[in-house]
Amino acid sequence: MNLSDLLGPVALADITAAIQERRLLHQPCGQGERLSSRFSWERFVSILNLQSTDMTGIRVFKDGRRVPLDWLTGRPAEVSIDGDAFKALAQQGISVVLNRIEHRAKEVHDLWREAREIFACPLQMAYFANFGPGYALNAHFDRDDIVIIQIAGRKEWEIIGEVVDVAPNRKPTRVDDDAVTRRFVMTPGDVLVLPYGLAHRCHTPEASLQLGMLVERPHGWDYFKRLVELAGSRPEFRRPAPVDRRDKAAVDRYDEELRQAVVALMDSYGPRQFLAEALRGSGNRTITLADLPPTVDLNADD
Ligand SMILES: [Fe+2]
Repeated sequence: MNLSDLLGPVALADITAAIQERRLLHQPCGQGERLSSRFSWERFVSILNLQSTDMTGIRVFKDGRRVPLDWLTGRPAEVSIDGDAFKALAQQGISVVLNRIEHRAKEVHDLWREAREIFACPLQMAYFANFGPGYALNAHFDRDDIVIIQIAGRKEWEIIGEVVDVAPNRKPTRVDDDAVTRRFVMTPGDVLVLPYGLAHRCHTPEASLQLGMLVERPHGWDYFKRLVELAGSRPEFRRPAPVDRRDKAAVDRYDEELRQAVVALMDSYGPRQFLAEALRGSGNRTITLADLPPTVDLNADD
């Protein structure tokens, strides 16, 4: 299955345009059966079992709040999922988010590789599963653009306010404006582009399973943080400021030298280079044995 098959009637160009314009796109598509054989609950459970070998990439929410993972394992420090604990929780309504699943199954890995090429950005794949009725998450916004495909069940969405540029130090759960601007329901086969910085909350009237692509577009702030790291190793950034601020010539000289150092740093390492490095870095993530089911060869053809 390639990305076009996954997205059904929605053109890839429409997805990239929505991301670029930071525009919400909900496309009721139907045709959920195109996904059910490859990405349905059985696949979710098999990846959950793989993640549970060290409990990485698993987050559990109840009533919209994150809960400790030992609610799943039955005991603190235990790393295997307790079937009875899971069943009991699911009946009360929980959400399970599996992050970074792109190395867990060949079908997901193939989609991830194709999506990285198309979006030219670091990217991760995720599963969002909700059991039992209730709010999946409280109102929040996400830091990444997310393309969501409804695999099974239904999910009701409320969009709150408009797209905002989220400050880097702002908690993603803090939403100031509670005005619902849009409501819709996702059913199997539907595709959604949720731009970063658009607050939302979801309600699940029944069990719901979604596959997500998180497009981790670096922000200007991320580039700036990298510049700060690089500046640390350059001697021109270690010169102290003049001690006498009345010495105008010394202050002017310091001002000019520092400006030139910043410009030289940016010239030697521009945003384009930063993006290429970020993309390479996300592809070079070390894959451990625990990441891989023993029977899957990620480089094999279908
Ligand atoms: Fe979200």
